[in-house]
Amino acid sequence: MKTLIVYSSRTGNTKKLAQRIYEDVEKHSAVTLSAVEDLNEEIKDYDYVAIGYWNDKGTADKLAQTLTEKIVDKKVILFGTQGADPKSDHGKKCIENVNKIFRSNQVVGHFLCQGKIDPELTKQFQSLPKDHPHAMDEARLKRHLEAAKHPDADDLNNLSKMIQDIYKEV
Ligand SMILES: Cc1cc2nc3c(=O)[nH]c(=O)nc-3n(C[C@H](O)[C@H](O)[C@H](O)COP(=O)(O)O)c2cc1C
Repeated sequence: MKTLIVYSSRTGNTKKLAQRIYEDVEKHSAVTLSAVEDLNEEIKDYDYVAIGYWNDKGTADKLAQTLTEKIVDKKVILFGTQGADPKSDHGKKCIENVNKIFRSNQVVGHFLCQGKIDPELTKQFQSLPKDHPHAMDEARLKRHLEAAKHPDADDLNNLSKMIQDIYKEV
């Protein structure tokens, strides 16, 4: 049994999830961890592939999406981070969109949690005029401040639970 964990992460949030998955999976399976940009593996050699993404405009970021051509007919675990609350409609839609992107595989688990938003992006929102649809208002600022605390220990523990559930069958 071999597992590949491959992730896309601009600012390190999704990488933290990838590293936790690595620690959990190595108890059950041979495992390789790679950033998408360093991927140098024969996907066909792996039974499970865990794919990490960050939410960019409601779906998996472009780099994570490049994996769709390479990963087919695999047992796939999807994991990602985003600024918004994962239980929000935006979060649910993101899960749907990413499941669709990797639909030529069997998705055996999908984990999404909040991740700190790049402070540069927060600054950009703050510089928008008040009447702009994305202008920084109280609700948005609250979201950014909450996101800044994630992924936290609870997120990582919830991720571990999902991974343990998947691998206890293996
Ligand atoms: C260009 C850009 C677009 C983003 N779009 C969204 C979005 O549509 N929805 C959302 O909830 N978060 C969005 N975010 C926030 C990121 O998904 C979030 O901070 C994520 O944890 C970053 O992961 P990383 O640290 O692994 O790169 C965006 C961030 C950037 C930089």
